[in-house]
Amino acid sequence: MEHDGMAFTSDEWICAHYADDYSGQKGSVSTPIFQSSTHIFDTCEEMTARRGLKLPFESERTYFYGRQGNPTVEVLEAKLAALERADGGVCFASGMAAIASVAMYLLRPGDHAIVVEHSYAAHFLTGFLTDYGIETTVVAGTSMDEFTVAVRPNTRLIYLESPSGMVYGLQDLAAVSELARSRGILTAIDNTWATPLHQKPHTLGIDLVVHSLSKYIGGHSDIIGGAVTGSWDHVRELVRIRSQYGGILHPQESYLALRGLRTLPVRMKLHQHNGMKVAEHLSRHPRIVTVNYPGLESHPQHELAKRQMLGFSSLMSMVMDAPAERSRAFVNNLQLFKIAVSWGGYESLIIEPRQYGDGSRRSHVRFYVGQDNLDDLLTDLDESLKLL
Ligand SMILES: Cc1ncc(COP(=O)(O)O)c(C=O)c1O
Repeated sequence: MEHDGMAFTSDEWICAHYADDYSGQKGSVSTPIFQSSTHIFDTCEEMTARRGLKLPFESERTYFYGRQGNPTVEVLEAKLAALERADGGVCFASGMAAIASVAMYLLRPGDHAIVVEHSYAAHFLTGFLTDYGIETTVVAGTSMDEFTVAVRPNTRLIYLESPSGMVYGLQDLAAVSELARSRGILTAIDNTWATPLHQKPHTLGIDLVVHSLSKYIGGHSDIIGGAVTGSWDHVRELVRIRSQYGGILHPQESYLALRGLRTLPVRMKLHQHNGMKVAEHLSRHPRIVTVNYPGLESHPQHELAKRQMLGFSSLMSMVMDAPAERSRAFVNNLQLFKIAVSWGGYESLIIEPRQYGDGSRRSHVRFYVGQDNLDDLLTDLDESLKLL
């Protein structure tokens, strides 16, 4: 990977310096925000010549209208593509807009999709696209047999999320992409949990990689955004769809995501460290039945995790041997863990516990280990666990 005559390839360098043609101008160290909805041409002839979508790799890249592309957004897209080892990237106004665009791009009435349980795409495919004549099979995804059985002649898309939401189960990315390729099916994965630093699905054969930028990449719980990376053929179609649906990421949000990327490598080291320590600590507690975290040796797919991931993060869940009202008291009493959805920012967050669905008195809760001091976090958890 070369840029400006430099030949660094580290993810840290990509996060901070790669593809930024604008920083350095007038001595600026950061990327300017091109806060412009339209772009000016010198003549009518030039305007006519510039009509139609142009991708960054095409010669004489120019900008036309802000819904189609923007220089600040494109710096972010180039960095995400480089981090994911893809040709290009397309940024959207939210992670959901990215997921919906992938589904709308690949699926037509009469098509079938396979999607992993507890994934964000599953909510969309089963809750929304059924009205558009698209059938979806939901699989846990932890064994290859499930995928093999689910494939139909009209299957067009296998949508993965590994680790998956809520239970943090893994899919074997190389094996799924091999199966999909042998049947002419495209694969997509939500890589938000691991970030491009800790898992690179394209290198394992996955066609499209999706991110919610609202989590670790933004990193400060202050933006909503999404992205997809892939080959130029896919990027071209996704840019076309984005221009029609109108879901481009805002230049200001792009700037904040670029700022987030600069510290992503250092933050992910801390998240992995704190996440692992909290998971280990909780898994030793007598009232905690399971901690769902792929970094733990006790996780049923820990070996697969070590094989296909480069690191872990800090979102996990646990099953407590306590009825819902006790578990709620535990959550309500926490001081550092705030009660809120989402994750990836500074603050440690936890959502309300749910009764485990097996008729027992167990309950299940998802939580996010932020950047608070580790000893403080453990103290906070231990104090509240006394209420179980
Ligand atoms: C794993 C995952 N993917 C996608 C999304 C959707 O992203 P957004 O909230 O940016 O639309 C979320 C949101 O919580 C998420 O947790």
